[in-house]
Amino acid sequence: MAKDAPLDSQGVVRLFEQYVIPNYGRFPVALVRGEGSYVWDAEGNRYLDLFPGWGCGLLGHCPAPVVRAVQDQVARLIHVPNTWYTELQGRWAEALSKRSFGGQAFFCNSGTEANEAAIKLVRLHTPKNRYKIITFEGGFHGRTLGSTAATAQPKYHEGLGPLMAGFVYAPHGDLAAVEALIDDETAAIMIEPIQGEGGIRVPPEGFLQGLRRLADEHNLLLVFDEVQTGFGRTGDWFAYQHFGVTPDIMTLAKAVCGGLAGAAMLTTAQIAPSLRPGMHAATFGGNPIAASAGIAAIEMIERQGLLENARKISDVFRARLTEIQQECEIVREVRLVGLMIGIELAIAGAPIVKACLARRLLINCTHQTVIRLLPALNLTEEQAHEACDLLSEVLKEQASRGNGQS
Ligand SMILES: Cc1ncc(COP(=O)(O)O)c(C=O)c1O
Repeated sequence: MAKDAPLDSQGVVRLFEQYVIPNYGRFPVALVRGEGSYVWDAEGNRYLDLFPGWGCGLLGHCPAPVVRAVQDQVARLIHVPNTWYTELQGRWAEALSKRSFGGQAFFCNSGTEANEAAIKLVRLHTPKNRYKIITFEGGFHGRTLGSTAATAQPKYHEGLGPLMAGFVYAPHGDLAAVEALIDDETAAIMIEPIQGEGGIRVPPEGFLQGLRRLADEHNLLLVFDEVQTGFGRTGDWFAYQHFGVTPDIMTLAKAVCGGLAGAAMLTTAQIAPSLRPGMHAATFGGNPIAASAGIAAIEMIERQGLLENARKISDVFRARLTEIQQECEIVREVRLVGLMIGIELAIAGAPIVKACLARRLLINCTHQTVIRLLPALNLTEEQAHEACDLLSEVLKEQASRGNGQS
């Protein structure tokens, strides 16, 4: 087959219009190459990316140690089923266990799958009459049907019913409401330590500790969905370490393979055997490519001191964004833990995202009014300042237009 000349962005958009199911809202730009915190489009324009890979690009685009590990592994052994052992999968599990609470791992490919595994494990580990899981308003756990039911946001349920039974929703941050929902059928509490899609909502002081206490008192499992918060995002390996509250089950995905698809559910050695043979599986889970990328990502974070860098760059963002908030009345609140950053606006965020794109700065908006930044842990101070300069310009410009204060 003759090789066609590469398409420009418009050509790619036309291709999608004909052949790709339109279930995503997309910007009309085709991206072709990435390196660190920069990404290039088909026209050769360079963008500073503060939302690389929707949180998966924690190490920036194409991190060299991950690229090398994958290139080496892909020529050696691409995939074997989980009826065989591979040293790589064992080493990957060991590396995650040693950096977390010392348990065991089940590997899969995406955040929603890791949460499905957690939901099954909860049901398998607790007595038959206990099946309810308490989750939180504004939370997000993924798009498969179990995770969708766990996600307490009506907009994600529309047209999908009947949903899987057994989830009860509590207001975020309200410990008394959680306690009131616990009954003889409750098996677990499941929460993102910081809500990501829900607008970078940090729990009130003592809330996660309170959930741990309730779980212990009522013999429930505590599940942390660390798909977005985990793996260094907050400046600690895992957000639970930041808050000093250890879960019984933790799910990881997004960044865990340095930008490749991969996910894990971790649990204690006491709970793990409840996911007994035959009850759960993922064909590609823990495959040699994902495992080599996962190990390389961990080594890169440690060798390059990226957790420390995340904390340093977080301080730059905190200082700059606080300044911007003082200068610009449309900024209501700045919330950040490590490099998980939310800027709550008094106006809709979509025009800000669009204006930043025109200035070649990539950001995200969630919950209509929250600008979300999930920059790479190896972002430089200069890049952080450059991004804040651009963002400040755009916010002031929109504020001066009197853009729809709410
Ligand atoms: C907290 C959380 N859980 C689960 C998911 C779902 O992950 P995936 O899209 O990999 O299935 C996401 C995705 O954004 C997430 O932020």
